[in-house]
Amino acid sequence: MSRRITCLVSLLLLGACASTSGAPLAETSARLSMHDFMKKVIDPAANIVFAAGNEEEGPKDPAKEAAKWKAALEAAGTLQESGRLLLVAPRARAEKEWTGAGQLMIDAAAAASAAAADRNLEAAFEAGGKLYDSCNGCHSKYIHGKT
Ligand code: HEC
Repeated sequence: MSRRITCLVSLLLLGACASTSGAPLAETSARLSMHDFMKKVIDPAANIVFAAGNEEEGPKDPAKEAAKWKAALEAAGTLQESGRLLLVAPRARAEKEWTGAGQLMIDAAAAASAAAADRNLEAAFEAGGKLYDSCNGCHSKYIHGKT
């Protein structure tokens, strides 16, 4: 290998290293508080998923229907990943109510996602109910202090 090529290779390697080994993100910029995670990510996404399972009154507008299912599909993806984030460090809690509710949220979101992809109103309604149970399951212990 000529000197020039070796140099180029090292530069490329250095570049690759530099892009992956920056200083760790400050905790506050890396992660939302539980309060904000619920308020800004989970709650708005859940409302979109709940709405998708509700029959709209009056004649259906195809453009509105398409937009509704697309939004529901995206929100379900947000919730599926959010459920996972509740089950990994640092938000995880090694208690069955927490893990059970988190897992139910993931399953409900996956069902909501499939329902949105199929544009299946009944399945979307059922997934919404399951999703609601997951919110309630966790809140009843961890917010309202009931077990
Ligand atoms: C695994 C547990 C868990 C699950 C599942 C869960 N939450 Fe929460 N949620 C919490 C906790 C803990 C808090 C209290 C956060 C805080 O303020 O510290 C909270 C708070 C909230 C709040 C109130 C924020 C505030 O303080 O005003 C809303 C709204 C909320 N959750 C919505 C939802 C919705 C909607 C779902 C279901 C789609 C859900 N949560 C599922 C644990 C959970």
